[in-house]
Amino acid sequence: MKTIEEQGYTFQEWLTPDQITKDVAQVAARISKEYADKEPLFVVVLNGAFVFAADLLRALKDVRCEVTFIRVSSYYGMATTGQLNFIVPLQQVVDGRDVVIIEDIVDTGLTIHQLKAHLRAHGAASVKVASMLFKPNKLEYEDAKPDFVGHELTDEFVIGYGLDFDGFVRNLPSIYKVKE
Ligand code: IMP
Repeated sequence: MKTIEEQGYTFQEWLTPDQITKDVAQVAARISKEYADKEPLFVVVLNGAFVFAADLLRALKDVRCEVTFIRVSSYYGMATTGQLNFIVPLQQVVDGRDVVIIEDIVDTGLTIHQLKAHLRAHGAASVKVASMLFKPNKLEYEDAKPDFVGHELTDEFVIGYGLDFDGFVRNLPSIYKVKE
């Protein structure tokens, strides 16, 4: 089992590139079936989802689609409005569109909860979520439960395949779990 050191922590390989490819194929097959006769707009949530999105979108079969990108941050536990901060705002008209958000991981669900509300407020006909990873035990917003999931985990911190640790290690081809 491969391990790596990052900022004083040890991480153990959890999902290999082969396993990830299988997870992505399974998600892509489900989306391809559901959106075969629609023309969805995929909204990729930067930064973390860029690796998953690149693989997922190329694994779709016969889905005519558009792809756009947003970058958001939400302020946890701070005295703010609880609104999403759009660092790169939505640049596409979503009115009447079937939107699929592509996310790296759903944790508390706050990001997706707020993003869904934003897309609906702009007239999206439907909004679904594809997330490479999902931590069901941590979910605080029921409407943020992803519709298409690559792999579930409990509440461990994971890195690689787009997921960062203070900005680093997004480029690792496997997904690693922090060792207790
Ligand atoms: P949520 O809004 O609480 O669902 O958080 C989602 C965001 O938190 C993700 O897009 C990630 O940027 C970050 N995040 C949550 N869990 C992890 C993790 O285990 N590793 C790296 N980033 C994470």
